[in-house]
Amino acid sequence: MNIEFFLNDTLNTINSDPLTRLSDLLRDNFDLHRFSRGCNKGECGLCIVLMDNKPVLSCLVPAFRVKEKRIITYEGFRDSEDCNDIETGFTEAGFSPCKLHKISYVFLVHYLLERVSHPGETEIAAYFAGFHPICGGYSALRDGIDKAAALRFIRHNEQAR
Ligand code: FES
Repeated sequence: MNIEFFLNDTLNTINSDPLTRLSDLLRDNFDLHRFSRGCNKGECGLCIVLMDNKPVLSCLVPAFRVKEKRIITYEGFRDSEDCNDIETGFTEAGFSPCKLHKISYVFLVHYLLERVSHPGETEIAAYFAGFHPICGGYSALRDGIDKAAALRFIRHNEQAR
């Protein structure tokens, strides 16, 4: 089937088996070799992408579900101001997750900040409930989210002037 979707803001049409994993589709058609290194079971998080701005594990998404969606990979997100706020916040807070999980934290924090501009303790704890233990440390993650939220808030206010 022909599958039309945006990848990192570029419209693409790929002919694919509808049940092909999105992670395989990205690896085979866009030279994204990072997607060949994961577990393919929804356990490692290495294949995380944003689909219509929501984090999803691309190894669990069949190609037919991607039709007319907007997919953002970390490779397309990392140069954005939103990503810069998060990564700067992480650095300032001394939050340094392992390489394997870093992209998951970046996308999950982005998703959280899109919904709650200044998340509190309860929201952060609920959001990351499935992520224990947190590599890099929970209190550093919480501080990193606080700093990222402040940076994003300041930037949005400056842009609104
Ligand atoms: S490849 Fe491990 S969660 Fe998708």
